[in-house]
Amino acid sequence: MFDQIRAQLPGWVNESRALAVHGRVAAYIPELAKAPADALGITLMGRGGEIASEGDHELKFTMQSISKVFTLLLALMDNGEEGVFAKVGMEPSGDDFNSMLKLELVEPGIPFNPLINAGAIAVTSLIKGETPARKTERIMRFFRDVAGTNELHINEAVSRSEAATAHRNRSLAYFLKDNEVLGEEIDVEELLQVYFDHCSVEIDCTQLARMALVLAFGGVDPITGRELVPRHYVRIAKSFMVTCGMYNASGQFAIRAGIPAKSGVSGGIMAVIPGQYGIGVVGPALGRQGNSTAGVHLLERMSAAFDWSLF
Ligand code: DON
Repeated sequence: MFDQIRAQLPGWVNESRALAVHGRVAAYIPELAKAPADALGITLMGRGGEIASEGDHELKFTMQSISKVFTLLLALMDNGEEGVFAKVGMEPSGDDFNSMLKLELVEPGIPFNPLINAGAIAVTSLIKGETPARKTERIMRFFRDVAGTNELHINEAVSRSEAATAHRNRSLAYFLKDNEVLGEEIDVEELLQVYFDHCSVEIDCTQLARMALVLAFGGVDPITGRELVPRHYVRIAKSFMVTCGMYNASGQFAIRAGIPAKSGVSGGIMAVIPGQYGIGVVGPALGRQGNSTAGVHLLERMSAAFDWSLF
């Protein structure tokens, strides 16, 4: 199968790269605007760590919303399901990822799911650690364990850039504090720093494919045999990836590709082929709903060719 994938990838990446002209690099975090708009790269990793890579797969990018899948897993391990779902719901919101609309409209005023910004900020507040620095340390330890490398670092320039322009996230977080989703003990500014930092973890396609591989194998790293996350929590995360991972394009992506995936505004997409592969994609030009136009096209193309849809 790998030979077949390797043979096809160059043509597909070329074809999908053309879709980048229909997207735009995110600019609301000024540092992200520096990314090359026509880039497209992919790495697919199998259970033994074998890889097929193509295009700009060495390009470094920040995880952005992809990090929310892993902070959710850590929060579940720290608090259990009851603790997490007291503060965040399980449903797609139907609104933009940074929307605050439903926080006031719908009772109780908890975010609809852990993958929209409001939900992810609430989830970050649940991660254990005596200080914000300690929380970030625990997040980094977990991300590095899942990625199987200590070479994962926060891109400080991106984190600072986001902090300087995060008026919307600040509003969301203060709203959550008022709605008592964030506990009395939570300092909103400190919490946001932890959130900006985990969104700013810098990665490449191969590292992201390795993180996806752990999800593809139910929380066990198939390369080392280490159990990193309880299977049940991985199942929860993959369900959210299918229903909310591509934001308001999640339904369309489920129909066209049918695989758990999570996008970020840096143009990254993490995709999971259960029991088979982990996939990391980057294509910084985004469509209206915040997903990489070229990256989505490439994954849809591959899923159709290899019959990956779960449905
Ligand atoms: O909070 C933000 O706006 C970013 N750090 C992450 C947003 C994001 O990646 C949404 N994804 N498409």
